[in-house]
Amino acid sequence: MKTLQRTLTIIKPDAVAKNAVGDIIEQFEKNGFRILAIKMLEISKHQAEQFYAVHASRPFYSSLTNFMSSGPIVTLALEKENAIADLRKLMGATNPANAEDGTIRKKWASSIEHNAIHGSDAEETARFELSFFFAGYELAK
Ligand code: CMP
Repeated sequence: MKTLQRTLTIIKPDAVAKNAVGDIIEQFEKNGFRILAIKMLEISKHQAEQFYAVHASRPFYSSLTNFMSSGPIVTLALEKENAIADLRKLMGATNPANAEDGTIRKKWASSIEHNAIHGSDAEETARFELSFFFAGYELAK
């Protein structure tokens, strides 16, 4: 059975710097995602650490959180049937070297860290990540 899901995506500083925002949002719309909310902002190192707290013990944590606080990002709340898995498919593999043709990371990512886009990986994570960036009243009905 298909269920309507919500997911959080971040267009990362590398993709914003490459003027890829319009192209990536077009991919969301062409692939059936409904945009419930969107904002451009810069986050602090501390905020990036909170967002990626699940990776705190990883060797790349410091570098990742420096990168994510290095420039503007665009965050979106998206809705679709099977949104979490479908977005991850559209994004492509975390490491762009393994990303399939036609995916966002294949087109825009340059390394496993500078990988253009983030998407929630499960329903519980999506709830946490959506509430990290958006208040309930900011989401379209
Ligand atoms: P993202 O989907 O945002 O989730 C966690 C991020 O950590 C991931 O994308 C990558 O940008 C980054 N990441 C994961 N593995 C590595 C790694 N081995 N080296 C550097 N960065 C990584």
